[in-house]
Amino acid sequence: MTEKRAQWGSNFGFIMAAAGSAVGLGNLWKFPYLAGKNGGGAFVLIYLLIVLFIGFTIMLGEMAIGRHTQLSSFNAYQKISKKWAFVGGLGVLAGFVILSFYSVVGGWVLNYMFKTVIGGIPADSAAYFGSFISNPILPIFWHLIFMAMTAVIVFKGIGGGIEKACKFMMPALFVILVIICIRSVTLPGAAAGIAFYLTPDFSKLTAGAVIAALGQVFFSLSLGMGCIITYGSYLGKEENLAKNSMIVPFLDTLVALLAGFAILPAVFAFGFEPGAGPGLMFVTLPQVFAQMPFGTFFGFIFFVLVLFAALTSSISLLEVTVAYMQDQHKWGRSKSVITLSGIMFLIGIPASLSMGVWGSFKILGKNFFDFLGFASDIMLPVGGLLMCIFIGYVWGIDKAIDEISNGGKLPFKLRGVFTIMIKYVAPVAVIAVFLNALGVF
Ligand code: PHE
Repeated sequence: MTEKRAQWGSNFGFIMAAAGSAVGLGNLWKFPYLAGKNGGGAFVLIYLLIVLFIGFTIMLGEMAIGRHTQLSSFNAYQKISKKWAFVGGLGVLAGFVILSFYSVVGGWVLNYMFKTVIGGIPADSAAYFGSFISNPILPIFWHLIFMAMTAVIVFKGIGGGIEKACKFMMPALFVILVIICIRSVTLPGAAAGIAFYLTPDFSKLTAGAVIAALGQVFFSLSLGMGCIITYGSYLGKEENLAKNSMIVPFLDTLVALLAGFAILPAVFAFGFEPGAGPGLMFVTLPQVFAQMPFGTFFGFIFFVLVLFAALTSSISLLEVTVAYMQDQHKWGRSKSVITLSGIMFLIGIPASLSMGVWGSFKILGKNFFDFLGFASDIMLPVGGLLMCIFIGYVWGIDKAIDEISNGGKLPFKLRGVFTIMIKYVAPVAVIAVFLNALGVF
């Protein structure tokens, strides 16, 4: 059965949904710890440059493909060139892979949210985290709840589900984030954290750090896997793509930067290490909250904030795969949502178990959870690279620009910038980063 193609209720709704997709665990969990590990300000600077030059262009390109074809990623590529449909297919697969492990981490957030209020996180937060994620039952229970919440929202469709949820959760998230930032930077001793965050230490800016920054831009902006193509396909012809593709990365970057201000000064104020890695949120922060006046309250609203961020992203990942089933296989929304979220829940189970009882099962030297992350880290830049080649050399800059300008005028010099970025700078940058990762230079 085919259902009539939905549209966003308003451009604001689209912005909240697209920014919701972008703002997620990537901003709140990964960005602060990557900055913590890779020389603070130096990493932040390189991240900003990549967003400005590459992130923005790819986002605009994806919006153009989606709105032009009014189709989700696989069918969008296919409509323009049959041979390129595989790029869209790769994106759908990436959505599958990412949501399977993303939902496991979403489950951890739910657990921490409840645990903060009921009983509190034990003082030895490292031991607690270790025993929680390696537990064979509890994380899977929370993973199920998180996936079910995601499915319920996507089930309700574009306007009544995704848009409505994001219009509530995104502003709420922002308010909570600002409250926590103010708390964090006004703690005695916070200045050291602010200095660390803002002072670039270029000696730590290794090739590895640059690659991490590039991967992080793709992940954080939800690029390279057709998410923005899919969301763009629900956008009306009258909306201004150039403006939208600046607002969304701006909001995403703002939240990532604020997340650093919310977390790093507090970490320093209580004498913890900023380079704790993935454990920063789940191990260090509970100890920070435990020492803070009204820590239970701040800890709770912090995990609510993370939950909102994670949910507005997970629904976009599910939507990519659901829209594919609708457009390509003519499945109805309910059947697609139930089947796909069910399969992703199942794939998430071994991912969760790989942090405990199945830890010895390795693919390419990684446990299953890390392997899924590794796959997506590669798939997104590859997807972005192929998209640039596709627009620059297959679909053609002129057609893309036609869609972006919609017959009207373009902002100052956008055509030139877009052309150079899509055809040369972005592809070369992604390839260089890969060759570097492979040790070629
Ligand atoms: N951007 C999301 C985050 O930062 C993750 C995501 C990646 C969502 C790709 C959709 C597509 O957490």
